Amino acid sequence: MLKNGIKVGLVGGISYGCYEMYVQRHPSAQADIDPEKKTIVVLGSGWASTSFLKDIDTDHYNVVVVSPRNYFLFTPLLPSCTVGTIDIRSLVEPTRFIARHKSRTVKVVEAECTHIDPETKSITVTDNSDVKGQNAVSTLSYDYLIIGVGAMSATFGIKGVEEYGCFLKEVWDAQKIRTKLMDCIETAAFPNQSPEEVDRLLHMVVVGGGPTGIEYAAELHDFLVDDLASWYPELAGKVRITLVEALPNVLPAFSKHLIEYTESTFKEQNIAIHTKTMVKEVREKEIEVKRPDGSSDTIPYGLLVWATGNTARPLIKDLMQKFPETQQVRRGLAVDDWLRLDGSEDIYALGDATATRYAPTAQVAAQQGKYLARLFKQLAVRDELEAELADAAEEEKARKDRKLRKAKDIKPFHYSHQGSLCYVGSDKAVADLPFGPGGNLATGGVATFAFWRSAYISNLFSTRNRALVITDWLKKTALGRDISRE
Ligand code: FAD
Ligand code: NAI
Repeated sequence: MLKNGIKVGLVGGISYGCYEMYVQRHPSAQADIDPEKKTIVVLGSGWASTSFLKDIDTDHYNVVVVSPRNYFLFTPLLPSCTVGTIDIRSLVEPTRFIARHKSRTVKVVEAECTHIDPETKSITVTDNSDVKGQNAVSTLSYDYLIIGVGAMSATFGIKGVEEYGCFLKEVWDAQKIRTKLMDCIETAAFPNQSPEEVDRLLHMVVVGGGPTGIEYAAELHDFLVDDLASWYPELAGKVRITLVEALPNVLPAFSKHLIEYTESTFKEQNIAIHTKTMVKEVREKEIEVKRPDGSSDTIPYGLLVWATGNTARPLIKDLMQKFPETQQVRRGLAVDDWLRLDGSEDIYALGDATATRYAPTAQVAAQQGKYLARLFKQLAVRDELEAELADAAEEEKARKDRKLRKAKDIKPFHYSHQGSLCYVGSDKAVADLPFGPGGNLATGGVATFAFWRSAYISNLFSTRNRALVITDWLKKTALGRDISRE
């Protein structure tokens, strides 16, 4: 009985997967852009904007997406790409795939929005890619603007970070880290390298003990143990990982028990954690830090990964200046409970570009995108009813009026927290999960890692991404990671 059930489940799952892949590759015909409909311009192709694009009803609107990268990136698994556990192509989904499945044609413009003019309801878009045509700057008009441009890596103006540090936010950051890591290792293996230089080149320093820094250090550790030890036996024991954190502990947003679990797991893995240590300056081969006792010290490094959180993009700072009365939070755009920009009627903002009471996470951004798509559907229904009401016969008016009141009652955004997960290395993860009314389940270990993997697999964008990531994990287990320098 159970065997049959499993068989049916497996066949059902595989058939559904095949059906989904078929549908993905064979999109239906789309309606043309309709000049009678309002135009929504969406900035960005990350968590917030893509979630909006997936759900927006294009029967009601024309939609234009503007983003300097023409794909969505599943950031939670990006640290795995820095050491080759997962291939970068497995984590991205072209925006045009998503756009092509909407009922009406969606225009995708691969460009950066460089200026927003709320007065004329227009934006300037600039092609900043390597290949430019005769025209690289253009203007687009909008009825509604959705700002989902995310944030940039924060440097706090610390000298040398931009020049010598590697961020971990985008595809090219992960590629740069992987190349630089292998370069450090090969350079350390170069003949007649002095022991001091080998020591420096093989010192991998991570600044920032938030989830990005922790997950990167964990992936790096796994790479050293699983792969480096086999292919560079003479160097493997000499590689060191150090994590520098300004606060008294790592993962400040997690439960105390999970912080202790992470710190003890790192100790077992020989990852040194320097807490209450603030980086003051980054130089080409060393960082200068302020120790807990106030003294200054230098730490030599080969590779420096900088993961100290977010700061607002120049476009966002520029827009804030246009609303001096309502936009005064430096962290990001202030919005109301309906995600409408404070001070504007027709601009909405979501995700990391905003400063709200929520943490800047993919979970929040994705829920906000979904919410905003629903809100816009309700706005369209409201507009249609208002138009119909004007021409309706007397007996119809009361019924339509009731419907209109309902359409006007738009509920504010409500965030539902699904929990926080973080990989800590050696096939272990930590998880803070909501449990019961107001409760919390804090758990860490190998079982949590299995949960971490299944949660991310089910959250990946498409069946294609899921198939590729599972293949990458199997490939890594069977063949190990590729150590070639790209
Ligand atoms: P983004 O996803 O950053 O997207 C911004 C988009 O705007 C991009 O497409 C960008 O190209 C585009 N853009 C930038 N400038 C412009 C411009 N001028 N004009 C037009 N478009 C522009 N969160 C979790 O909840 N769980 C996790 O496990 C998790 N892991 C993470 C791991 C890493 C390594 C990182 C870096 C972050 C992680 N996060 C995680 C956080 C999460 O990725 C962010 O909160 C999320 O990406 C925010 O979504 P967003 O759409 O606001 O911004
Ligand atoms: P973060 O803001 O969470 O952590 C940055 C850390 O850097 C802080 O602990 C801070 O004290 C430290 N720091 C700042 N300046 C420093 C200095 N000069 N010297 C030493 N330490 C310094 O940033 P992170 O990790 O990039 O995460 C950004 C957002 O993305 C967060 O909201 C996070 O929750 C989310 N995220 C979630 C993940 C997950 O759920 N697994 C994974 C990665 C990111």
